[in-house]
Amino acid sequence: MGVGCWRNLLVVLVALVLAAKLGHFQRWEGFQEKPMSKKNMDPTLNFFIESYNNASNDTYLFQVQELLRSQMQLTTGVEYMVTVRIARTTCKKNDTKYPSCPLQRKKLKKSLICNSLIYTVPWIKYYQLWNNSCQEAEGSHKVLRQ
Ligand SMILES: *[C@@H]1O[C@H](CO)[C@@H](O)[C@H](O)[C@H]1NC(C)=O
Ligand SMILES: *[C@@H]1O[C@H](CO)[C@@H](O)[C@H](O)[C@H]1NC(C)=O
Ligand SMILES: *[C@@H]1O[C@H](CO)[C@@H](O)[C@H](O)[C@H]1NC(C)=O
Ligand SMILES: *[C@@H]1O[C@H](CO)[C@@H](O)[C@H](O)[C@H]1NC(C)=O
Repeated sequence: MGVGCWRNLLVVLVALVLAAKLGHFQRWEGFQEKPMSKKNMDPTLNFFIESYNNASNDTYLFQVQELLRSQMQLTTGVEYMVTVRIARTTCKKNDTKYPSCPLQRKKLKKSLICNSLIYTVPWIKYYQLWNNSCQEAEGSHKVLRQ
């Protein structure tokens, strides 16, 4: 067990991380239909909606309404391919009362179906949003069929 041994281990680890980054679009077939564990659900969906809200230009915050589908694949961490319904709340980005904001009911009512690929290493609380695309929920059967 010399220094070289550790160096080899490091090389393997780096290679694994790179493989995870480069290969993630080519490995859809490895996903399995599995409900997200209760333990991982809240932090993963919180991360998702925070990322969404961070990137969004909407005046109001969106909130997760329902996790419609979840598939997972174990790699160097856990990859979740999820379909989530989110909806526009009455809270603006600066409001502090989030996440207990009521949803919009009238003209500003809006819900979206998002397909997202989230890479997580749950045991070190590491989350990365790899893919996300959202479409209006009304008449979005095509999205759900995926
Ligand atoms: C959202 O933005 C805040 C402030 O810029 C940042 O601290 C936080 O890490 C971001 N969250 C995500 C999930 O990207
Ligand atoms: C938000 O606005 C910026 C600048 O107008 C634009 O580049 C970006 O694509 C918008 N983001 C979203 C999620 O629509
Ligand atoms: C949040 O509040 C600050 C100061 O109150 C304001 O300057 C900023 O424009 C607000 N941001 C958003 C996204 O409303
Ligand atoms: C993820 O992004 C890639 C490349 O942009 C795209 O081809 C693929 O359809 C996306 N997957 C999902 C689930 O959105």
